[in-house]
Amino acid sequence: MIQRTDALRRKWLLRIVQGFSVTGLSLLAYPFLKALFPGSSNRDYLEVDLTELQPGEHKKVLWLGRSVIVLRRFNQGPSIAAAKDATQNDQNALKDPDSTLSVQPKYTQNKHRSRSPDVFVFYSNCTHLGCEVSVLSDPVKTEIICPCHQSRFDDAGRVLQGAVALYNLEIPDYTRISAQRIRLQSSAA
Ligand code: FES
Repeated sequence: MIQRTDALRRKWLLRIVQGFSVTGLSLLAYPFLKALFPGSSNRDYLEVDLTELQPGEHKKVLWLGRSVIVLRRFNQGPSIAAAKDATQNDQNALKDPDSTLSVQPKYTQNKHRSRSPDVFVFYSNCTHLGCEVSVLSDPVKTEIICPCHQSRFDDAGRVLQGAVALYNLEIPDYTRISAQRIRLQSSAA
Protein backbone atom coordinates (compact mmCIF):
# COMPACT_ATOMS: atom_id res chain seq x y z
CA MET A 1 0.00 0.00 0.00
CA ILE A 2 2.84 2.35 0.98
CA GLN A 3 4.64 1.44 -2.26
CA ARG A 4 1.54 2.31 -4.29
CA THR A 5 1.23 5.75 -2.59
CA ASP A 6 4.92 6.45 -3.33
CA ALA A 7 4.48 5.47 -6.96
CA LEU A 8 1.45 7.77 -7.28
CA ARG A 9 3.34 10.66 -5.67
CA ARG A 10 6.29 10.13 -8.03
CA LYS A 11 3.93 10.13 -10.98
CA TRP A 12 2.38 13.44 -9.92
CA LEU A 13 5.76 15.01 -9.26
CA LEU A 14 6.95 13.89 -12.68
CA ARG A 15 3.92 15.49 -14.32
CA ILE A 16 4.45 18.76 -12.48
CA VAL A 17 8.14 18.84 -13.50
CA GLN A 18 7.21 18.04 -17.12
CA GLY A 19 4.61 20.83 -17.08
CA PHE A 20 7.15 23.36 -15.83
CA SER A 21 9.71 22.20 -18.42
CA VAL A 22 7.30 22.61 -21.34
CA THR A 23 6.18 26.06 -20.15
CA GLY A 24 9.78 27.19 -19.59
CA LEU A 25 10.94 25.95 -22.98
CA SER A 26 8.02 27.66 -24.72
CA LEU A 27 8.82 30.95 -23.02
CA LEU A 28 12.49 30.65 -23.99
CA ALA A 29 11.74 29.69 -27.60
CA TYR A 30 9.13 32.42 -28.24
CA PRO A 31 11.52 35.31 -29.02
CA PHE A 32 13.59 33.10 -31.38
CA LEU A 33 10.54 31.84 -33.23
CA LYS A 34 9.21 35.38 -33.50
CA ALA A 35 12.51 36.54 -35.00
CA LEU A 36 12.61 33.61 -37.41
CA PHE A 37 9.03 34.04 -38.59
CA PRO A 38 8.19 37.73 -38.37
CA GLY A 39 5.25 37.21 -40.71
CA SER A 40 3.61 34.94 -38.17
CA SER A 41 2.93 37.98 -35.95
CA ASN A 42 -0.65 39.16 -35.76
CA ARG A 43 0.53 42.73 -36.29
CA ASP A 44 -0.52 44.17 -39.61
CA TYR A 45 1.39 47.42 -39.32
CA LEU A 46 4.90 48.70 -38.60
CA GLU A 47 5.64 52.15 -37.24
CA VAL A 48 8.83 53.92 -38.35
CA ASP A 49 10.32 56.77 -36.36
CA LEU A 50 11.72 59.65 -38.44
CA THR A 51 13.09 61.75 -35.58
CA GLU A 52 16.77 61.20 -36.40
CA LEU A 53 16.45 61.51 -40.18
CA GLN A 54 18.12 64.68 -41.43
CA PRO A 55 17.39 66.03 -44.95
CA GLY A 56 18.94 63.64 -47.49
CA GLU A 57 19.09 60.76 -45.00
CA HIS A 58 17.12 57.55 -45.22
CA LYS A 59 16.45 54.39 -43.30
CA LYS A 60 15.57 50.91 -44.45
CA VAL A 61 13.08 48.62 -42.70
CA LEU A 62 11.81 45.13 -43.41
CA TRP A 63 8.09 45.05 -44.03
CA LEU A 64 6.14 41.94 -45.02
CA GLY A 65 9.30 40.30 -46.37
CA ARG A 66 10.39 43.30 -48.47
CA SER A 67 12.70 46.20 -47.80
CA VAL A 68 11.10 49.61 -47.57
CA ILE A 69 13.14 52.83 -47.64
CA VAL A 70 12.01 56.01 -45.89
CA LEU A 71 13.79 59.09 -47.23
CA ARG A 72 13.66 62.60 -45.82
CA ARG A 73 13.88 64.88 -48.82
CA PHE A 74 15.99 68.01 -49.00
CA ASN A 75 13.03 69.93 -50.33
CA GLN A 76 9.31 69.98 -49.95
CA GLY A 77 8.89 67.75 -52.97
CA PRO A 78 10.98 66.10 -55.67
CA SER A 79 14.10 67.87 -56.90
CA ILE A 80 13.29 67.23 -60.56
CA ALA A 81 10.24 68.93 -61.95
CA ALA A 82 8.12 66.77 -64.20
CA ALA A 83 8.96 68.25 -67.60
CA LYS A 84 6.35 66.73 -69.84
CA ASP A 85 7.80 68.21 -72.97
CA ALA A 86 11.33 66.85 -72.32
CA THR A 87 12.82 64.97 -75.23
CA GLN A 88 13.83 61.32 -75.10
CA ASN A 89 17.46 62.45 -75.19
CA ASP A 90 17.19 64.46 -71.99
CA GLN A 91 18.74 62.17 -69.35
CA ASN A 92 16.91 64.03 -66.58
CA ALA A 93 13.52 63.65 -68.22
CA LEU A 94 11.05 61.32 -66.53
CA LYS A 95 9.64 58.27 -68.27
CA ASP A 96 6.37 58.28 -66.34
CA PRO A 97 6.09 61.77 -64.75
CA ASP A 98 2.51 61.33 -63.56
CA SER A 99 2.97 57.71 -62.51
CA THR A 100 0.13 56.54 -64.67
CA LEU A 101 1.95 53.28 -65.55
CA SER A 102 3.45 52.69 -62.10
CA VAL A 103 2.28 51.00 -58.90
CA GLN A 104 1.41 53.14 -55.87
CA PRO A 105 -1.55 53.75 -53.56
CA LYS A 106 -4.00 56.26 -55.02
CA TYR A 107 -3.21 58.90 -52.39
CA THR A 108 0.44 58.98 -53.56
CA GLN A 109 -0.36 59.55 -57.21
CA ASN A 110 0.45 63.23 -56.86
CA LYS A 111 3.36 65.40 -57.89
CA HIS A 112 5.58 64.28 -55.00
CA ARG A 113 4.42 60.63 -54.90
CA SER A 114 3.96 60.67 -51.13
CA ARG A 115 1.52 61.46 -48.32
CA SER A 116 3.48 64.63 -47.56
CA PRO A 117 6.13 66.41 -49.65
CA ASP A 118 9.03 66.14 -47.18
CA VAL A 119 9.15 62.33 -46.86
CA PHE A 120 9.25 59.67 -49.57
CA VAL A 121 8.47 56.02 -48.76
CA PHE A 122 9.14 53.27 -51.31
CA TYR A 123 9.99 49.62 -51.86
CA SER A 124 13.71 49.20 -52.53
CA ASN A 125 13.33 46.76 -55.43
CA CYS A 126 14.17 48.09 -58.87
CA THR A 127 11.26 47.76 -61.26
CA HIS A 128 13.52 46.22 -63.92
CA LEU A 129 14.61 42.89 -62.40
CA GLY A 130 14.16 43.53 -58.70
CA CYS A 131 17.71 44.39 -57.50
CA GLU A 132 18.01 46.50 -54.33
CA VAL A 133 18.50 50.14 -55.29
CA SER A 134 20.97 52.48 -53.55
CA VAL A 135 20.11 55.94 -52.27
CA LEU A 136 22.88 58.48 -52.91
CA SER A 137 22.62 61.89 -51.33
CA ASP A 138 25.14 64.67 -51.90
CA PRO A 139 24.82 67.91 -49.92
CA VAL A 140 21.91 69.17 -51.98
CA LYS A 141 20.15 66.38 -53.81
CA THR A 142 19.29 62.71 -53.70
CA GLU A 143 19.41 60.21 -56.52
CA ILE A 144 18.40 56.58 -56.47
CA ILE A 145 20.46 54.17 -58.57
CA CYS A 146 20.16 50.48 -59.29
CA PRO A 147 23.59 48.80 -59.14
CA CYS A 148 22.59 45.98 -61.51
CA HIS A 149 21.98 47.84 -64.78
CA GLN A 150 22.34 51.46 -63.64
CA SER A 151 18.70 52.53 -63.88
CA ARG A 152 18.33 55.96 -62.28
CA PHE A 153 15.39 57.34 -60.34
CA ASP A 154 14.74 60.76 -58.82
CA ASP A 155 13.87 61.37 -55.15
CA ALA A 156 10.25 60.53 -55.90
CA GLY A 157 11.27 57.13 -57.29
CA ARG A 158 10.46 58.26 -60.83
CA VAL A 159 12.54 56.50 -63.45
CA LEU A 160 14.72 58.69 -65.66
CA GLN A 161 15.18 58.43 -69.40
CA GLY A 162 18.05 56.15 -70.46
CA ALA A 163 17.19 53.55 -67.79
CA VAL A 164 16.32 49.99 -68.71
CA ALA A 165 13.65 50.03 -65.98
CA LEU A 166 10.31 51.14 -67.39
CA TYR A 167 8.37 51.97 -64.26
CA ASN A 168 8.68 54.19 -61.21
CA LEU A 169 9.58 52.55 -57.89
CA GLU A 170 6.67 50.92 -56.12
CA ILE A 171 5.15 52.53 -53.01
CA PRO A 172 3.70 50.62 -50.04
CA ASP A 173 0.49 51.47 -48.23
CA TYR A 174 1.24 53.77 -45.28
CA THR A 175 -0.08 56.60 -43.11
CA ARG A 176 1.73 59.63 -41.73
CA ILE A 177 0.55 59.40 -38.13
CA SER A 178 2.57 62.38 -36.88
CA ALA A 179 5.31 64.75 -38.04
CA GLN A 180 7.95 62.23 -36.92
CA ARG A 181 6.23 58.92 -37.50
CA ILE A 182 4.79 56.86 -40.31
CA ARG A 183 2.89 53.61 -40.14
CA LEU A 184 3.31 50.95 -42.82
CA GLN A 185 0.17 48.90 -43.11
CA SER A 186 -1.00 45.92 -45.07
CA SER A 187 -3.35 46.99 -47.83
CA ALA A 188 -6.21 45.21 -46.11
CA ALA A 189 -5.70 47.27 -42.89
S1 FES B 1 17.53 45.37 -62.03
FE1 FES B 1 17.69 47.48 -61.80
S2 FES B 1 18.31 48.16 -63.71
FE2 FES B 1 18.17 46.04 -63.96
